[in-house]
Amino acid sequence: MKAFFAISLFIFTGIFTALFFGFGLGEASEPLEYDDEQEGLEDEIVIKFSHVAAENTPKGQAVRKFASLIQKRTDGEIKVEIHANGTLYNDQNEYQALKNNHIQMIAPATSKLTDKFPKWQVLDLPFAFPTYKDVKKAYEGPIGQTLLTELKNDQVKGLSFWYNGYKQMTSSEDPLLRPSDFKLMHFRIMPSPVIKAQYQALGASTSVLPFNKIYENLDVDFINGQENTASNIYTKKLYETQDHMTISNHGYLGYVVLMNEIFWKELSKEHQDIIQKTMAETTDWSWRHSIEMNDSQLREMKRTDAIEVHYLNDQQKQLWEDALESVYKEARPVIGDKLFNEVMKLKEHD
Ligand code: LMR
Repeated sequence: MKAFFAISLFIFTGIFTALFFGFGLGEASEPLEYDDEQEGLEDEIVIKFSHVAAENTPKGQAVRKFASLIQKRTDGEIKVEIHANGTLYNDQNEYQALKNNHIQMIAPATSKLTDKFPKWQVLDLPFAFPTYKDVKKAYEGPIGQTLLTELKNDQVKGLSFWYNGYKQMTSSEDPLLRPSDFKLMHFRIMPSPVIKAQYQALGASTSVLPFNKIYENLDVDFINGQENTASNIYTKKLYETQDHMTISNHGYLGYVVLMNEIFWKELSKEHQDIIQKTMAETTDWSWRHSIEMNDSQLREMKRTDAIEVHYLNDQQKQLWEDALESVYKEARPVIGDKLFNEVMKLKEHD
């Protein structure tokens, strides 16, 4: 009899619990509750932010930070949808997609704007920004301002410059230490005439290729060298196809953050203010974290012997600088005296 009562109580409790609290099938079976956010779903503003880098990079992390702050600060009124690794658009078509408003934000490397805006080549001049502080001065001072103003006629809004790091050279042949080591090398480059001229001056040939095609082109030996930040080399596993990396710090790879201008103008003043404030904060974050991200990913490649790392000594660096002097002469008429002189001030301060 006791057993009968116990079993009945068990069954009754089970039915009672199920009726009141549901059958425990998890989130999916719970009734959808009405709340204010659901009512506003149709009004949600979506910013599609497309970029070509991996998530675990200075750019990938900056985009994530920006996206989550915007969502919080606008109470979900603006959602930043991230498309990393070039999954939506690559570096050859993302600018046009932005102009067509198929995506609303991108952050291309500054070198990728040089075919449309030749003056942007100023940021590719070799050894032009000797220290990280010089890069910051270039982005935040008259050089950055002049370059952003150039964009105004093209329906894109330049919001900020973000940081990655100094570019290093990699090779699947010999270590690249003297200018003569570049002879017979074929490098992947970004589409910037100054970068092309840099390799010509060193005696190497080049091909412009999208970022996401570097690995496969190194793998099949169409190219045997490339330049990039430690972070991009690490996260795209370029070390698997390359034997040597030279820490040359010969150029800086940073980004310009762009928004479709018509989209920008249609935002409310309140939303524009939130975006600008958050952008300034994210830029500062990117400045403070990019150096450490590159350093730690370089350390990791060294620790695991992923690639042999070489450092340019002062004498070798001087030989590179001498060989690259002609690049400055060629670029000056394109860049114009004003920008050229600003760069020379930064380059020669130390
Ligand atoms: C490259 O093409 O090498 C870089 O611009 C990739 C990136 O966006 O960091």
